[in-house]
Amino acid sequence: MDPATLIPAPDALPVHWSWFYLLLLVTFFLHIVLMNIMLGTAFIATATHLWNTGGDSPVCESAAKGLPYSIALTVNFGVAPLLFVQVLFGHLVYTSSILMAVYWLWIIGILIAAYYLAYIYKYRYHCLVGGRFLLTGAITLLLLLIGFFFTNNFTLMLNPAQWSRYFDNPGGFILNTGDPTLLPRYLHFMTSAVAVGGLSLAVWFSWKQKKGSHEASHMITRGCQWFAGATLINAGFGAWFLGSIPHGMLSASGSVTWFTILLMISILFICFAVIFALREQVYPAVISALPAIFFMILVRDQLRSAYLHPWFSPSDLPVHPQYSPLFLFLAVLLGGLVLVGWMLKLVLTAETKGVQS
Ligand code: HEM
Repeated sequence: MDPATLIPAPDALPVHWSWFYLLLLVTFFLHIVLMNIMLGTAFIATATHLWNTGGDSPVCESAAKGLPYSIALTVNFGVAPLLFVQVLFGHLVYTSSILMAVYWLWIIGILIAAYYLAYIYKYRYHCLVGGRFLLTGAITLLLLLIGFFFTNNFTLMLNPAQWSRYFDNPGGFILNTGDPTLLPRYLHFMTSAVAVGGLSLAVWFSWKQKKGSHEASHMITRGCQWFAGATLINAGFGAWFLGSIPHGMLSASGSVTWFTILLMISILFICFAVIFALREQVYPAVISALPAIFFMILVRDQLRSAYLHPWFSPSDLPVHPQYSPLFLFLAVLLGGLVLVGWMLKLVLTAETKGVQS
């Protein structure tokens, strides 16, 4: 069977595709940074509880306070790229979502369970003690499972040749585990979450240090060590991921030059970030890590183009001009961002009072 016959016809766009592409990249960047903070701090709290058998630690207490916020923000900033990915690649991602429908729908239940447990961790932190490791372990595993389903869906959508598996397995239980890139890609995402989670803790404790917290300095060291250690391990997963990309695919699609340039720029920023982290220069490390993540997202995008090269490019989409919905959307997005900023300011003000009292 020719897999091209399985690809549904895409819808027309109301404005030029590059608008949606830009919005997808920017909102996905925000989603991934927040996802990293969420998953990374949950993982670090679990590991810390394991080492000190559920004992108290400022790192875990901060993770307990922050998790409900980071989960909520990750989900909210996931909605925006979901919107744009559906506009540009809807005919592909709807199909892959249907092929793995059961797992895809599980995400909602898993997410609610993780969110609920995060609130228990936050509000019962001081009376839990022995249960802390189990609780953070459960939250981490649930979030890791969601990430696994995302990686499955966003690789399955790139592989129409796999879609004919539906005829043998029509129940919505198809995963993309046969794809050699799946495991290294997933591990690469998850390990970067641990790294960025560590860096976010370092930022948090730097802020607390400025507000006069005495225990912060040791925690900044810990956060920086998590960032540097996880990033060094992730270099290995990154190399594995690179090696697993089907041979000749990048050159056949013409993406190889941009892919290589963007990858090199990202790696350069990562090297700076690790050096700054090892010197415990937290803000320079952040200023280097953020562009590194952004350039990695551009690399991922080149890879998506290469995969889809035989089948589809967003530039193929017809345009039926209709600008007003886009302007309305941009105005609402801006208003939403201002509200989120105001909400975070309120949280930080409350926290400052907590630190000082
Ligand atoms: C809360 C737990 C979540 C985790 C751990 C998570 C993790 C991930 C990961 C690892 C990827 C990259 C997959 C890959 O390319 O291999 C991803 C992509 C994505 N996530 Fe999330 N995610 C979460 C929640 C959400 C939610 C609730 C939404 C939507 C409401 C969402 C929307 C997206 C979208 C649209 C992409 C792909 C964007 C693109 O391909 O450009 N995520 N997520």
